[in-house]
Amino acid sequence: MFPSPLPLVVLLYTLVLPLTSAFYLPGTAPRDYLQGESIDVFVNTLTPMLNSKLHSLISYDYYDPHFHFCQPPGGPVKQPESLGSILFGDRILSSPYEINMMENQTCKLLCQASVPKDDAKFINDRIKEDYGLNFIIDGLPSSEMKRDSKTNEIFLDAQGFNLGDDETIPDKPALNNHYDIYIQYHQKDYSGSYSYLPGSGLQQKQYRVVGVLVYPRTVNSMTSGSNQPDCFTNQPFYLSEASNNEFYYTYSVSFIPSDIPWGLRWDSYLHVFDPKIHWFSLINSLVIVGFLVFMVMMILYRTISKDISRYNSIDLSEDVQEDYGWKLVHGEVFRLPQRPMLLSVMVGNGLHLICMILVTLIFALFGFLSPSNRGSLATVLLICWTLFSCVSGYASSRTFSTLGGDQWKSNMILTTVLFPIVIFSVIGLLNLFLVFSGSSGAVPFGTILAILLLWFLISVPLSVAGYFYGMKHGSFSNPTKTSSIPRQIPPCPWYLNPIPSAILGGILPFGAAFVELYFVLSSLFGNRAYYAFGFLFLTFSVVALTTATTTVLFVYFVLCAEEYRWHWRSFAIGGGSAFWLFVYGIWYWASRLSLDSFTSVVLYFGYLFLFSLLNFLIGGSIGYVATYFAIRRLYASIRVD
Ligand SMILES: *[C@@H]1O[C@H](CO)[C@@H](O)[C@H](O)[C@H]1NC(C)=O
Repeated sequence: MFPSPLPLVVLLYTLVLPLTSAFYLPGTAPRDYLQGESIDVFVNTLTPMLNSKLHSLISYDYYDPHFHFCQPPGGPVKQPESLGSILFGDRILSSPYEINMMENQTCKLLCQASVPKDDAKFINDRIKEDYGLNFIIDGLPSSEMKRDSKTNEIFLDAQGFNLGDDETIPDKPALNNHYDIYIQYHQKDYSGSYSYLPGSGLQQKQYRVVGVLVYPRTVNSMTSGSNQPDCFTNQPFYLSEASNNEFYYTYSVSFIPSDIPWGLRWDSYLHVFDPKIHWFSLINSLVIVGFLVFMVMMILYRTISKDISRYNSIDLSEDVQEDYGWKLVHGEVFRLPQRPMLLSVMVGNGLHLICMILVTLIFALFGFLSPSNRGSLATVLLICWTLFSCVSGYASSRTFSTLGGDQWKSNMILTTVLFPIVIFSVIGLLNLFLVFSGSSGAVPFGTILAILLLWFLISVPLSVAGYFYGMKHGSFSNPTKTSSIPRQIPPCPWYLNPIPSAILGGILPFGAAFVELYFVLSSLFGNRAYYAFGFLFLTFSVVALTTATTTVLFVYFVLCAEEYRWHWRSFAIGGGSAFWLFVYGIWYWASRLSLDSFTSVVLYFGYLFLFSLLNFLIGGSIGYVATYFAIRRLYASIRVD
């Protein structure tokens, strides 16, 4: 029944080989420049900047016709990018900037731009929304040097630089049409290696780029009677919405020596904001959560061991009156729950996601996903998601047969397609919104096709293989027999009903996660690379532990109330943190964001819904699996007559 793995390996091989070009990860090897050698300047999308508030979630292509930025002769050329980088919204293109190593330039004319009045309004609106430009010079993102007001440390903020300035005079946005580019270079150390100019025997100096700073300015550089730009007037430049505009784009380049060696050039980008608060909150939540987990363990251990010794020591003739609580339902706990099909599909998909996240976090922890490989995080997530679909098949098959389901064919199909289709449809719908809003964030057709192929040709077969493998292992044995006639269920207190218990049970895991969640959201929306993977890994472990213990505790109370329908409750309680995630998302939207367009709001809530759904699946399956094994252990330890 189990298919031979050979065709699968061949399939994987033939598929992954041509895709390796799509997974090309640039920026890993240093590049040495001789004096005067030209340095690549690429442009990325325009993204909204998170200053005090974020105004939009839509990004624009640099060469969007509304902006009228200067184009390179022959038109912009697309640069190769990894799948993950495309998915995360990078669209990297060539630019007309000419920068040569060690050659300073002052007020160099890029081009003369003309912006009609309709597009002037478009650009002014984007300036009001705090859009930023993103250049990539020798693989480094353009950044601004900032000083952390708390720690006084100097760091490079790679959030992009302002498209314009709407703060000097409110409601009168000025366009930044001049850029001062500072390139920090490091002269290569010659102690080990020598390089000679061919023929001359002279040693030539080599340089490496170790930092890129861009300070934009607004300057009305077009003066009448001269065809040279003047970058040093104090007059700002305003785009007129009443008439057509003609103006210059200019730039200056300065090369600044730096002690930073090439290998450490990313370090100044990886700045921890408020490290004290970060640590303090993490330790705080670790202590609280550790204490709670300890309490839960103690309560469970003491109560249960007392219960077990009492049950097992009771004289059989008297135990009719003494029996109470969870022991009474020993004939019911393993009764087939409602909708076992959906439950097993959800557990399978949840475990699939857990494996994906865990392996990605471990990769990140060992430093494989440095920000110098743009999009490597998303790429690794995608690869893990594709490969670990075998886990979903395996787990779903074993859960389904343990629950006592018998329609294995429909179960297999649903496990493989149900959630991917739900997730693809939501993302497809959001993508449609992006397409209509003219945003560059819309995923291009080729990428969609690549992902669908990955899913259909690798993920689906692996899931089916996992399913058959799970069927070979069969179901888990249940320690007690299920009685033929269902017991009557006494009314149970309100807080043990599925929805209240899920909401209550979700508080603890969410409480453990929410400090880190704030940082994740800020770097997600602030367009900053997230790299505190150590924190994230710790948080993930703590949350998983908390979810498991709270769910077991709640289900224990449920069983003590002689309510034996625990299967769905355990899933709901485990996934209860999704409710709080959603509430937190609404709070974040109301307090930290001020999204202007309808599309941005739809996007935000679409992503929030997806995150909450994933959270529900992950938490729910942790809760279910932990509870199943706890219950199995519990009922195996009592003597049943
Ligand atoms: C370029 O300009 C910077 C400061 O503006 C100066 O320190 C540096 O020496 C100049 N470099 C060259 C090669 O002229």
